[in-house]
Amino acid sequence: MPAPDPVPLPRFPADFLWGVSTSAFQIEGSPAADGRGPSSWDAFTREPGRIRDGSHADTATDHYRRYREDVALMAGLGVDAYRFSVSWPRVLPDGHGPINARGLDFYDRLVDELCTRGIAPVPTLFHWDTPLALEERGGWLERDTAERFAAYASAVAERLADRVPMWITINEPAEVTLLGYGLGEHAPGRQLVFDALPAAHHQLLAHGLGVQALRAAGARRIGVAASHSPVWAAGDGHADRAAADLYDLLTNRLFADPILTGAYPDEGLAAMLPGPVAEDLRTISAPLDWYGVNYYNPMLVGAPEPGTPTAFGGIGIPADLPFGIRQIDGYEQTDFGWPVVPDGLRELLVGLRERYGDRLPPLYITENGCSYGDAPDPVTGRVADARRIAYHEGHLRALHRAMEQGVDVRGYFIWSILDNFEWAEGYRQRFGLVHVDYATLERTPKDSYAWYRDVIESGR
Ligand code: FCB
Repeated sequence: MPAPDPVPLPRFPADFLWGVSTSAFQIEGSPAADGRGPSSWDAFTREPGRIRDGSHADTATDHYRRYREDVALMAGLGVDAYRFSVSWPRVLPDGHGPINARGLDFYDRLVDELCTRGIAPVPTLFHWDTPLALEERGGWLERDTAERFAAYASAVAERLADRVPMWITINEPAEVTLLGYGLGEHAPGRQLVFDALPAAHHQLLAHGLGVQALRAAGARRIGVAASHSPVWAAGDGHADRAAADLYDLLTNRLFADPILTGAYPDEGLAAMLPGPVAEDLRTISAPLDWYGVNYYNPMLVGAPEPGTPTAFGGIGIPADLPFGIRQIDGYEQTDFGWPVVPDGLRELLVGLRERYGDRLPPLYITENGCSYGDAPDPVTGRVADARRIAYHEGHLRALHRAMEQGVDVRGYFIWSILDNFEWAEGYRQRFGLVHVDYATLERTPKDSYAWYRDVIESGR
């Protein structure tokens, strides 16, 4: 059990935005309510062996029906903002054709509820739940999906832009490309390895077209939520450094460079992409108001070791890739097996600032969190999750150090307010400040909930 740090947390600016995050598929349930269509993840969870605990998200946390209770929990926390995602198949059940107004009605009610409670709604338009009809036609491998996304973005913004102060186009295109189309760990379960690259380009194009569509509909303060990790080379030798550089290029720069600089980080790679890439890059690099960073841990990468498949956080990495993922020793691990490296956040942010200079807009940490399985005490009901508190304290200190080193960070969103459906892990990993009993759907705030409430309160 980590000992509490006796040094008080540093003070953040008075206008620093404190928030919590979720995504639609992971919390909502009610897959057939009000005309919602199926998503790529509904289909994926039905394929045997895809989800480690054999579960699906038909109920998840039942947020679709309990959203008022969940917004009340956020109000109790005192957060300034709530990052959620809009389910694309609720709005466009077939991916195209007429808008399903009843699907949008839910987000209208949610936004109103948040505004009533003084919490800023921060919607993400794509957090992985592609309408199944589009996935069946190739999903992100097809350019058409990016164009459909723009039409969907318009519809959502036309409905909500009057009350939404901050927008996110897409969440973690790197994970969708790598895990969804490259390695097959996530929906749609394709194992195309490097042939997955068009999925990266089309998500980036969707982001760019989405920015245009949002601005045209009057949306303000548009950003993106991108995953980033510092990449550490496993050794000093050339082969390890080259492998780490390639991994950095594929997971960090492949997505950030086009958005922030208007160019792909490697010309050979750009030549493998479909369509009018040079023209698309102008769309992709339209100026953003802010840039969102999702951070969990650094990655240790070395030359591949033939015949030795590696694994990270439950994901099997094939042996024939041009890099190998190594275990990071010497740090505590979350229950997901992810190393706890708070200073990695400072290193990452300072590195982004060095790499992109003045092209980097103000940053928000759009996700940071940890999986620990602490459950309510059978007698007292208390959920004593000291390790989660230590995790967030450590990361907030590291974030503050990055700000002292000149990085412009405007806010911090904890992943997540609630325990929820953690993709291929099912319900086995719990990231919430609030415990969810999946048998009764009862919500129990954990000790970390009270801790975060105090952090927010003391910063006012
Ligand atoms: C991120 C996802 C988010 C959640 C966390 C733990 O990669 O964006 O939905 O699953 O990981």
